[in-house]
Amino acid sequence: MPLLELDQVTKRFGEVTIVEDLSLAVEAGDALGIVGPNGAGKTSLFGVISGDLFPDRGEVRFAGRPVTWVDAAVRCRLGVGRTYQVPRPFESMTVFENLLVAVQQGAGERGQASYTRASSILERTGLGHEANRPAGRLGLMPRKRLELARALASRPRLLLLDEVAGGLTDPEMAQLVEVVESVRADGLAVIWIEHVVRALTSTVDRLICLAGGSIIGDGRPDEVLSSAAVREVFLGTEATAESLAESGATREGSGRS
Ligand SMILES: Nc1ncnc2c1ncn2[C@@H]1O[C@H](COP(=O)(O)OP(=O)(O)OP(=O)(O)O)[C@@H](O)[C@H]1O
Ligand SMILES: [Mg+2]
Repeated sequence: MPLLELDQVTKRFGEVTIVEDLSLAVEAGDALGIVGPNGAGKTSLFGVISGDLFPDRGEVRFAGRPVTWVDAAVRCRLGVGRTYQVPRPFESMTVFENLLVAVQQGAGERGQASYTRASSILERTGLGHEANRPAGRLGLMPRKRLELARALASRPRLLLLDEVAGGLTDPEMAQLVEVVESVRADGLAVIWIEHVVRALTSTVDRLICLAGGSIIGDGRPDEVLSSAAVREVFLGTEATAESLAESGATREGSGRS
């Protein structure tokens, strides 16, 4: 039984169809990347998975259980953790307090165990030295790390990452990829939306390209990025040069050995 199943999901905003008749299955331990042009419906798809949005048609199942109409807080407790494209920390609380809330509310832990877990996630995501800084005063990289840390704190079985790598330097990106790799090693499933294609291709086994709310490519990253349909939608976008030059499209295999 897949961990996550979307069955013919359609999401509209008013008259506009944002996600159209989309079906998808993700197994425990899978790492799936999602690329697609701006406005393709990627973040909206995460909304439908996380419970921030309810679809107009179709069904969402998590761990075998229908969750289509289950709200986000409950899905979080069931094991769906997500980051937001625009980070959403509690600005006036410190980094550590933000994590503590996520551990206590998201994972339902209390007392000393919650402090221990928050500390361990701080270290794991490289935020140890920022622990006492108010989240509202963090720079871009630590804000993204905190977003990831908060999602991890809720003890997810499925981690949804929405553009956590944009604007990072190469060494920062390498650190981020390392954290995601370590998360995978724990057996979590990861779905990672990213415009920075090379961050994805070194991490995921499967890549989906979304355009106009539909899946137009699904398979090994190198195969997807070299397909005519995918090249077509990326033509003229910032991802083009990078995706085609640095992706598995120019290498043998998907970059994982
Ligand atoms: N709450 C909303 N109400 C109305 N329209 C929305 C809403 N959220 C998103 N949209 C529209 O839905 C479309 C898909 O948006 P979405 O954010 O899912 O795209 P995306 O693929 O994540 O894009 P990006 O790469 O820019 O993050 C866009 O046209 C957007 O303007
Ligand atoms: Mg988006």
